[in-house]
Amino acid sequence: MNHQTVVILDFGGQYNQLIARRVRECAVYCEVLPYRTPLSEILAKNPIGVIFTGGPNSVYAEDAPKIDPALFEQGIPVLGICYGAQLMAYTLGGHVTSPDSREYGKTLTQYDTSCALFQNLPSQGITWMSHTDYIDQLPEGFSSTAHTDACPVAAMSNPTRKLYGIQFHPEVLHTENGVAVLRNFLYNVCGAKGDWTMEDFARTSILQLRERIGKGKVLLGLSGGVDSSVAAALLSKAVGNQLTCIFVDHGLMRKNEGDEVEAAFKGRSLNFVRVNAQDRFLSRLAGVTDPETKRKIIGEEFIRVFEAEAKKIGRVDYLAQGTIYPDVIESGSGEAAVIKSHHNVGGLPDHVDFKEIVEPLRLLFKDETRALGRELGLPNYLVDRQPFPGPGLAIRIIGEITPEKIAILQEADAIFREEIDNAGLRHQVHQYFAVLTSMRSVGVMGDGRTYDYTLALRGVTTTDFMTADWARIPYETLDLISRRIVNQVRGINRIVYDITSKPPATIEWE
Ligand code: XMP
Repeated sequence: MNHQTVVILDFGGQYNQLIARRVRECAVYCEVLPYRTPLSEILAKNPIGVIFTGGPNSVYAEDAPKIDPALFEQGIPVLGICYGAQLMAYTLGGHVTSPDSREYGKTLTQYDTSCALFQNLPSQGITWMSHTDYIDQLPEGFSSTAHTDACPVAAMSNPTRKLYGIQFHPEVLHTENGVAVLRNFLYNVCGAKGDWTMEDFARTSILQLRERIGKGKVLLGLSGGVDSSVAAALLSKAVGNQLTCIFVDHGLMRKNEGDEVEAAFKGRSLNFVRVNAQDRFLSRLAGVTDPETKRKIIGEEFIRVFEAEAKKIGRVDYLAQGTIYPDVIESGSGEAAVIKSHHNVGGLPDHVDFKEIVEPLRLLFKDETRALGRELGLPNYLVDRQPFPGPGLAIRIIGEITPEKIAILQEADAIFREEIDNAGLRHQVHQYFAVLTSMRSVGVMGDGRTYDYTLALRGVTTTDFMTADWARIPYETLDLISRRIVNQVRGINRIVYDITSKPPATIEWE
């Protein structure tokens, strides 16, 4: 693709993906590469600039990540962030010190606004610091262009060589004008043109997919989630009827969801197969109460149904998947403990015969994936969809799953979502849904006694779904939701709101 590229070298910091996202938000394409990437590979990308991320090490530690000094001799602008800045200073002959106290959190920082990084910014602002070491001796040819009370070199620059370092984290929201600092580097120093747009991406991807796939047949597992839906839309524009999408409706979707997915894809030029497999799934789940067993059964059954359908199509050349960039960056990192067996409809089968895998969204972040979906004309209700787990409502019904319980939950969940929308909270609460507990309690309705289920409402705010806080939904909204559900949904007589964060709880209940 003929757009400018920035290379981000990953030194293991916690905000690395965020840096990449911010650069892309500035309409500049970037790729995250491990710091060990050979210089020749970096240069082959023809980058207009390189950014070093932060990292957990001290430059003097024995196994500290290093960088080939020849990188600094290429005339390519480099911005080092935190560890990246210290590494630049150390590699070029400066000195880094480890003081007794560390600087952490929001810090008032003074800028030299004649430095290219701080042009058109106020002369001071809050930055987010997270370091122990700092640069106490600049390498030759550098000057300090920002400082804090504790840190004499909060930024350093060598404009002649286009080398810059900053001690603070411009990518996090706590840093005032942080994105402006990155933008200044990209536009003032690297000469970025801002040529990364979804329109361009869509156009060039379609041409490339056509060229790669030729007359081949493509198969895609469509879940109705954002990623697989956008992948389907893109591939259908590229290869039309050569694409077959298999949508397995396990009967555990939210209210009307199966029909919505079908409606969005039926009219397009692609082969859309909806498999109504509710009975199959429900009969295998009958009597099962253990969460992990439920997840495993659904995962297995999915693959079986998918494979059976794939066989009907016959030979397939390409298996398409809606893998997005965070999946790519995260894979390869260490194995964490299994809390839940997450199951993704995109990550399907072992036994389908195909030549190659096509992952047309491999380079996109979630927000870019959504933007591409809009560009391709997908309806908002698909593009703005919040994450929905592969096992669906099965893990939002505690205990045994029955058709009756599914129907109760679908109705209640639909009311909850509708009222969150009505209250204008859709973008503030990042994920929200109802959970049907297995608990029943006594209530009174009219003049009669009820003995019905307790419904739990869950709403969270989060940036990455790895940690989350419970959303402070206004009482008035909760009140309205509670009254509507109890009045309109038979089988529920009590509503509770989940006020636990993750950790220690998880977002889903099972
Ligand atoms: P937990 O419950 O682990 O959820 O805190 C974190 C995020 O992941 C979603 N989730 C899943 N997504 N397949 C998925 O594709 C799954 O099996 C699955 N389980 C949980 C959950 O909705 C939340 O956004």
